[in-house]
Amino acid sequence: MTHPAAAPRPLRSRRTGALAGRVRVPGDKSISHRAFLFGGLASGRTRVTGLLEGEDVLATGRAMRQMGARIEREGETWIVDGVGNGALLEPDGVLDFGNAGTGARLAMGLVGAYDFTATFIGDASLSRRPMGRVLEPLREMGAQVLARSKDRLPLSIRGPRVAAPIEYRVPMASAQVKSAVLLAGLNTPGTTTLIEPIPTRDHTERMLQGFGARLEVETDRAGGRTIRLQGQGELTGVADLVVPGDPSSAAFLVVAALVVPGSDVVIENALMNPTRTGLIETLREMGGAIEAVNPRLSGGEEVADLHVKHSALRGVAVPPERAPSMIDEYPVLAVAAAFAEGDTLMQGLEELRVKESDRLAAVAAGLAANGVAHEEGEDWLRVSGRSDGSGLGGGTVETHLDHRIAMSFLVMGLASEKPVAVDDARMIATSFPDFEALVARLGGALDAAAL
Ligand code: S3P
Repeated sequence: MTHPAAAPRPLRSRRTGALAGRVRVPGDKSISHRAFLFGGLASGRTRVTGLLEGEDVLATGRAMRQMGARIEREGETWIVDGVGNGALLEPDGVLDFGNAGTGARLAMGLVGAYDFTATFIGDASLSRRPMGRVLEPLREMGAQVLARSKDRLPLSIRGPRVAAPIEYRVPMASAQVKSAVLLAGLNTPGTTTLIEPIPTRDHTERMLQGFGARLEVETDRAGGRTIRLQGQGELTGVADLVVPGDPSSAAFLVVAALVVPGSDVVIENALMNPTRTGLIETLREMGGAIEAVNPRLSGGEEVADLHVKHSALRGVAVPPERAPSMIDEYPVLAVAAAFAEGDTLMQGLEELRVKESDRLAAVAAGLAANGVAHEEGEDWLRVSGRSDGSGLGGGTVETHLDHRIAMSFLVMGLASEKPVAVDDARMIATSFPDFEALVARLGGALDAAAL
């Protein structure tokens, strides 16, 4: 099930010797969700390899099954037999997305243009997150929404008999909102136009084109995009969909290798799509020795192996316009910044407040609990580091059902003077089930914490 065992599982990390070795991170979460969503929708068969088998993605797979797709695992390959564009079935029960914002929001878009009712539920974290950003454009297309608490889960969506194509300007930097509107456009007659003033991860556009959607992207001089999608066209399965390694999961191991003295680590097969590489760019500006070796194409995307060595980091000001290309990486960047000489300033962080937790508040509280000097603003964070980790650690971090808060602070404990505990490690399985095993394989020390 998508809901974890009832009891929290505290975990602690502590300083060890250097981290060393080669590891391969699991498949990209964003692309894995889309593999199930688009494969389940397209007619014919899609074969997926490298899929992230995390709880979030599996929840999306279950939802697609509930709407008629056949999804089976055969050895290392996931076989997805889709229903055909326009032919989703009314779900046979509520759709439970657990902790997964991407699964829930993209599926809302998918069903928003269908003349049936779909009910969405999730865990306590997902039930707190704003869904209005997706529901507003769906309402413009003709969908009706029933929710007990305004635009929060649990809620039901009933699409119109025939949806109306819209032109929609995404008001915040959000790939999920962009994607939801485009997915609703798939079952809408005519052209759905999406304007994205601030570019975000482009997996939906690229992958939909791979499934045969008629979709054009125009990029203006400032980088903003206009995307036009012709609705009700045919989508056909992709014979060999390869999911590259998740740069947002690689991020934890990259930072661990940078901050633990003496480390020398290779992280294989990380996606290098430029809409996702903001953290690598920032860590290099901080003096991080990160070399992308063996660059190649995999599943139509650039990937590389990241060779990372322990480095003396210095604080930087991260440009706010970089935020969309590293939005999930700020918690672990804050950990890197705790071990950097001087101040690191992160700005343009308003979206962090509506992730799996209020990540800005959760990071600031975690830093405070572990003796890291910092200042938190409405949409910014300044961290004052100590390069040798002296005096840092010793605290317990509240994770608020947020996998990235848990992993970030466990990374901190690998280099801080005193151990760092997190109150609950269960949610790590939503995005990176092998995290603990891979850290241990590199030589990191994690053990159950008695709180
Ligand atoms: C995602 C988009 C981002 C990101 C999330 C995955 C996606 O969310 O934080 O982890 O796959 O489209 P927003 O669209 O809310 O920025």
